[in-house]
Amino acid sequence: MRTEISFAPIAGIATELLAVLAADTQTSKGSNSDLGAKPQPTLLTTDSAVQAAAAGVLGTGEYRAGTDETVLIHAPAGLKAKRLLIVGLGKLAKATGHGVREAAGTAVRFAKPRGIRELAFALPESSSERLSEAVVARAAAEGALVGDFDPDTYRSDRKDQSIQSLTIATPPDADRPAIEAAVREGVIIGESQNFARSLVNEPGNKLTPTILGQRAAQMAQEAGLGWDVYSTEKLHELKMGAFWSVSQGSPEPPALIVLRYEPEGVTDGPVLGLVGKGITFDTGGISIKPADSMEKMKYDMAGGAAMMGAMRAIALLKPRVRVIAVVCAAENMPSGTAQKPGDVQIAMPIAPDKPGKTIEIINTDAEGRLVLADGITYARQLGATHLIDAATLTGAISVALGKNIGGAFSNDDATYAKFESALAVSGEKFWRMPLGEEYAELIKSDIGDIKNTGGRYGGASIAAEFLHTFAEDTPWIHLDIAGVAWLDESRPHIAKGPSGIAVRSILEWVRSF
Ligand code: BES
Ligand code: MN
Ligand code: ZN
Repeated sequence: MRTEISFAPIAGIATELLAVLAADTQTSKGSNSDLGAKPQPTLLTTDSAVQAAAAGVLGTGEYRAGTDETVLIHAPAGLKAKRLLIVGLGKLAKATGHGVREAAGTAVRFAKPRGIRELAFALPESSSERLSEAVVARAAAEGALVGDFDPDTYRSDRKDQSIQSLTIATPPDADRPAIEAAVREGVIIGESQNFARSLVNEPGNKLTPTILGQRAAQMAQEAGLGWDVYSTEKLHELKMGAFWSVSQGSPEPPALIVLRYEPEGVTDGPVLGLVGKGITFDTGGISIKPADSMEKMKYDMAGGAAMMGAMRAIALLKPRVRVIAVVCAAENMPSGTAQKPGDVQIAMPIAPDKPGKTIEIINTDAEGRLVLADGITYARQLGATHLIDAATLTGAISVALGKNIGGAFSNDDATYAKFESALAVSGEKFWRMPLGEEYAELIKSDIGDIKNTGGRYGGASIAAEFLHTFAEDTPWIHLDIAGVAWLDESRPHIAKGPSGIAVRSILEWVRSF
């Protein structure tokens, strides 16, 4: 998708489709006499030609400007555009940059199946700080790119419905450099989120750990990151017994992916460690999963992909802080060489003269925490002062929070506070969940230090507490994205399939240092 910016009056933009925003300005608080008070759909543009063209439909009451609600006007009088699309933001009083992000996605996804390859999206005119020029310009670019992604890459009769050209239209008096910078940023972020989604979308046979490593290396070269992709030998050298125990059941070798961002001149201050679960397929191993829905376990590398997407955006946006990413990629398979329940594994030691923690394997399907244990230790050994990990770790997190909100855990309130602020910018939804001694108690092993499962109840917190054992006192955030990394249904602004969750929030968290 090519992206241009227009500062011309929107009525004069010659385009297949001009999208403008509307919001409901009805402010009644819903007292009894107001019940059923009519919505007041109001255009968020002062362009008089657009207002005249939309007056008819807005007057009918059949369009309410609800969130992502659309109405199309063909051959709008007085406009150069062939079509005028009105996209709703919902209540104006509650409108956010994230609403604009979704509205841009909705406009793009309206256009795509109708054979429209080119559109203009008019930014809302509003003086509120929530909807500042830069915020909405960035959000529009992000949302449009995210909306353009479809997962049907292997259809042999696939018709590429991508949008070729997007014009972001902004009022003539806008701060041009600010808008240009914001759009550039939004494009980088949207593309990075889509990069992560394209990886998650790949089936297990097309994206083995080795191939994920190749994709990481290629991205690193293009974006200008330092990188190393290691395999079996390095796992043995580092004594990554937990990570290796997952990969040992598969003929596909593991990949230990390291990406480095070292901004010039930054030699002190924090080093942020991003750790991603990269299970390219999770059968469960010897504790094999039921066949029902097992095909979806190709998305068990979504945490690793999120880190790769975030690193791409970091490389291009250049924040003044050092960042390393560690992605632990393996295939979890049952076989004659697979680990067995009851096996004891020795995790990577934090220093050569210290012993590694011993882990009793209760369930080989709790493999994500095993690869992450060594990934976290390695990131700390590489000098990470602050950690964030992302993983499709537990089914239990979806039982707790559903499929729209991810789980977040942290051992440090100040570090978590930065993440909460990042969420306000990214528009992504996470809810903080508990860690603690109560969960640590459940994973004590009779034969070794810890075991890899601790019973049915509180499964997401138990898994997080397992990771906590390896993060120890290093300020750390764990994101359990098992419920939110895959969308089962399309929404107006985004296709079903890989969501690309966490890329934007991790990036903003990094930028907050
Ligand atoms: N990859 C799964 C978690 C998962 C489940 C991701 C559903 C996406 C959708 C993970 O490796 C796993 O199997 N977890 C087990 C842990 C259990 C054995 C303690 C689970 O959640 O059932
Ligand atoms: Mn599993
Ligand atoms: Zn898994």
